[in-house]
Amino acid sequence: MQNMILVTGGAGFIGSNFILQRIQEQATSIVNLDKLTYAGNPHNLETVSSDSRYKFVQGDIGDRALMRQLLGTHHPCAIVHFAAESHVDRSIRGPEDFVRTNIDGTFALLEETRAYWSALSDEQRKSFRFVHVSTDEVYGSLGPDDPPFSESTPYAPNSPYAASKAASDHLVRAYHHTYGLPTLTTNCSNNYGRFQFPEKLIPLMILNARDGKALPVYGDGQNVRDWLYVEDHCAAIATVLRRGRLGDTYNIGGWNEKPNLEIVHMICDLVDEMAPRAGNSRRDLITFVKDRPGHDRRYAMDARKIERELGWRPKATFESGIRETVRWYLENEAWVRDVTSGSYRQWVATHYSG
Ligand code: NAD
Ligand code: DAU
Repeated sequence: MQNMILVTGGAGFIGSNFILQRIQEQATSIVNLDKLTYAGNPHNLETVSSDSRYKFVQGDIGDRALMRQLLGTHHPCAIVHFAAESHVDRSIRGPEDFVRTNIDGTFALLEETRAYWSALSDEQRKSFRFVHVSTDEVYGSLGPDDPPFSESTPYAPNSPYAASKAASDHLVRAYHHTYGLPTLTTNCSNNYGRFQFPEKLIPLMILNARDGKALPVYGDGQNVRDWLYVEDHCAAIATVLRRGRLGDTYNIGGWNEKPNLEIVHMICDLVDEMAPRAGNSRRDLITFVKDRPGHDRRYAMDARKIERELGWRPKATFESGIRETVRWYLENEAWVRDVTSGSYRQWVATHYSG
């Protein structure tokens, strides 16, 4: 029980960065339950795969018998719940998987956790934690002069993805309020860094720029996101796990709002610098394409609560983080080749065909 964490979705982008960061603490053991959808990649965790403090289990959070067995066998003192369908564009094309995993799956996980937690000793019940990793998208879209989202901003999700995450947040809240389950919810802004599946803006642009392919910018490129380096997000989750107030939610962000076009320009310039080629700048590859339906205009996070109450602050600057990220994608050709074969090509062909 002591220091055994059950991580769900730990073969994905943020989950695998979280596991690699946490396993550095000698006293921590981790069981990683992941379904290995297209977004899950066990290679991310190769460096810890033979560590006796790490165990991988392939499975679905919605499989209640499996969850019961895992909890009963490993006796975790905490669950950190990352598993989700996470790509907004896929939720627009096919919302069903998002309802199944993000809502039904979280419900199944909560039910099995409640049963497990209820049977613990008083002392173990007190120290147990369930951390639900969620998103700023539950708050909807900001106008140019609106203040950033705070923990008391009303929920107004606009995409099927955001709606499914909002529903899961409400379930987590209800399990604390009704049953006393010791939950904590984090709502974070856009992450970037190593291991992000290249369907998302930053890795997609890095790889297309590297390969001299079109850089598809939706709409006018002026949609704003608040970018946070993934290592800082993982450190924030660990801080909430250790010191967060039970039942509370914490907004996490990088104080780093940027329009998409500015991000793409920075990526083009870094790829030009690190992988020079004869001829024009990569900026010439930028192509404005049809906008995402219901595209949220602006996200920005007010992260003062976690800073004030728990002492967390982002360490990376955007300039250092994006440089490191571009370098990582350019240097990890085998990882890139592995994830961009097969179904990825099909997604790109279908999604960007028009
Ligand atoms: P990701 O898509 O890279 O990884 C998701 C992981 O969950 C994959 O390994 C996948 O195989 C696994 N998974 C999916 N369905 C599953 C199921 N039914 N059972 C078990 N495993 C399943 O996602 P990510 O970007 O790492 O995001 C992780 C979490 O953080 C998500 O809950 C997401 O909503 C949230 N989040 C992401 C961001 C971001 O910018 N990426 C920002 C804020 C919050
Ligand atoms: O805000 C947190 C959320 O950030 C997470 O909850 C989601 O899981 C994560 O996917 C991300 O959602 P976004 O929709 O903001 O990320 P994405 O990388 O898909 O897009 C970022 C911005 O870039 C968005 O305004 C859409 C735009 N975009 C994206 C792609 C893939 C483009 O202009 N062209 C593209 O090809």
